[in-house]
Amino acid sequence: MKEDKIRINYLKKINDLKKHNKLYFEDSSPVISDKDYDQIKNEILNLEKKFSYLKDASSPSISLGYTPSKNFIKSKHRVKMLSLSNAFDSEDLENFEKKIFNYLNKKIKLEYSVEPKIDGISASLTYKNGSLIMGTSRGDGITGEVITENLKTIKDIPQKITSKDFPKDIEIRGEVFIKRSEFDKLKNDFANPRNAASGSLRQKNPNETKKIPLNFVAYTYGYFESNKIRKQSDFLNFLQRWGFKTNEHNKILNSIDDLTNFHKKFEKERFDLEYDVDGLVYKINSLELQKRLGFTANSPRWAIAHKFSADSAFSQIVDINIQVGRTGALTPVARIKPVNIGGVVVSNATLHNEDEIIRKDIRIHDTVKIERAGDVIPHVISVDLKKRKKSSKKFIFPKKCPCGFDTIKEFNKVTNKFDAVRRCPDRGFECEKMAVEKIKHFISKEALNIDGLGKKVVEKFWDLKLIRFPQDIFNLDYTQISKLEGWGDLSVSNLKFSINQSKKVSLDKFLYSIGIRHIGIENAKLLAEYTISISNFLNFIKNKKINEFLNIDGIGDTQINSLKKFFENKSNYKIIEKLSSILNISDLKLNKNGKLLNNSFMFTGKLSNMSRAEAKSLIEENSGSVVSSINKKLKYLIIGEKPTNRKVEQAKELGIKILSEKEWLNLLN
Ligand code: IVH
Repeated sequence: MKEDKIRINYLKKINDLKKHNKLYFEDSSPVISDKDYDQIKNEILNLEKKFSYLKDASSPSISLGYTPSKNFIKSKHRVKMLSLSNAFDSEDLENFEKKIFNYLNKKIKLEYSVEPKIDGISASLTYKNGSLIMGTSRGDGITGEVITENLKTIKDIPQKITSKDFPKDIEIRGEVFIKRSEFDKLKNDFANPRNAASGSLRQKNPNETKKIPLNFVAYTYGYFESNKIRKQSDFLNFLQRWGFKTNEHNKILNSIDDLTNFHKKFEKERFDLEYDVDGLVYKINSLELQKRLGFTANSPRWAIAHKFSADSAFSQIVDINIQVGRTGALTPVARIKPVNIGGVVVSNATLHNEDEIIRKDIRIHDTVKIERAGDVIPHVISVDLKKRKKSSKKFIFPKKCPCGFDTIKEFNKVTNKFDAVRRCPDRGFECEKMAVEKIKHFISKEALNIDGLGKKVVEKFWDLKLIRFPQDIFNLDYTQISKLEGWGDLSVSNLKFSINQSKKVSLDKFLYSIGIRHIGIENAKLLAEYTISISNFLNFIKNKKINEFLNIDGIGDTQINSLKKFFENKSNYKIIEKLSSILNISDLKLNKNGKLLNNSFMFTGKLSNMSRAEAKSLIEENSGSVVSSINKKLKYLIIGEKPTNRKVEQAKELGIKILSEKEWLNLLN
């Protein structure tokens, strides 16, 4: 009884704090003094210290104490704001270079622009005729939030630029951050400097942003009208000339050895800096090469972030849970006693897979070393065996999925080994654990991207049996939802609105959203480019013509087998048919202005000037298509060094035009 009373009193204080947070941070009209606010906060913290059973997600010991406003207008970036892939050691860097050489089809001397990676929030500033007309956050990389007024409060951001050579229309991109000394003053309100910068930047009222001294360094561009600059390092110099701050430690280096040595030195010296740096960014200095190399789905091929070694800490494993992913992979997760690692409270760490547990002999109650590097999921590094009790027992990895099905370990024909990962065999939506993950994938940012329907909400709706299949999202009982705790009329109508908006989706996004194993964004795009419309795609499936997708350059046996397995399950097919009747899936609009429209190409032999990948993107940029097998519809066979004679013969028989690499490049001009 006493416990109940304490809990009620505690929750009342939490609610009070929430109310004042909203008044202060969102409405910018506090009704109590800072001193009174701190008192409520301290009372909560003291209660938690005294009674360990008190816990709430909104407690100031867990949450940041503020909710950034959701009310910003969104704006689509003219050029996507992508992220960088990570390297942790020189082997990763060598692989990075190797991929570049493969793409270019030759080994060349590379020059790098090396820039400290400040751990802040990226922002994009649009200048027209020298005036800052819009500033946005990164958002999901495709669409950002318009936070112009907040950005204008930052003294490092020029609002007018009069230099004669400043481009008439340009987006300048860089990092917004807070210095450590300033963060020290705010330590009680935010978990780390990055959160402080983000929280401040996304306040509804720019006067709130002004209260926290933010800084800005510029490092790249988005849209850029008539770019005549040749090197990234020159661009950084121009930025300075135009009045932007750039990092004082930027430099040019020429080899992986130089990069690794500089990284080693900088890693130690970084603690003397006034701000947090979590790695170095290496960019190919030549902008022409950058353009040739282009992007993969999420990151440029011409840049990489070399992270500093992770922060680590020791903690104890309380339990090991098995999580099931959307493709059925069983991932063991260690629940650990909460521990602060580099400013973030960590209470879960991944154990990767069954083999990893066996290899490291990780057990419940073990004391373990946990590492956390930037945005990478914390993981268990090693076990402190000295701390292990004699009574400790080996962890037996369950052979059944939590849904009850027997699990399997697949045999990998390429490595000739069984996979390290144990899986629940994909039975469509029959495994409840997989089904909910599939729905989370369906609504995720890169798929249907439904605002207001995050992973937590999906879990809640699942528990309440409001959804079982993706199509249920479009038939929700909004009256019931509006009665749920935490849902008001406004949030329900916002949800309705964004669900409705998400109905319009392009074919590639839709094919990705279904969550077929091995069909990521890139492969979904390839399938969409080949099939053009959803009805055509479904015809391929209905008429058992999946093998035809082998014609697509980039689709191989792995993808074909996965597609077949997926569609063998009749319920999967039905779900897709159902979704295609609810959604407005737009046909893929191919670039129809290029010189190579309606021309298909196939390669045989090695090209001398570039890789197949680059050749393929050149053809596609010019509206042509690339296939990987000869058929009557093929228009040109391009022959490189040592072509396959059989292919050349076949092409001749079918009357397909044969081009040398040079003749093909002439076609393109
Ligand atoms: S270039 C297409 N340069 O790192 C690549 N990014 O994971 C565009 N960052 O979102 C980014 N310092 O917030 C670039 N000198 C630098 C950077 C930098 C920090 C951040 C930025 C970006 C993230 C990439």
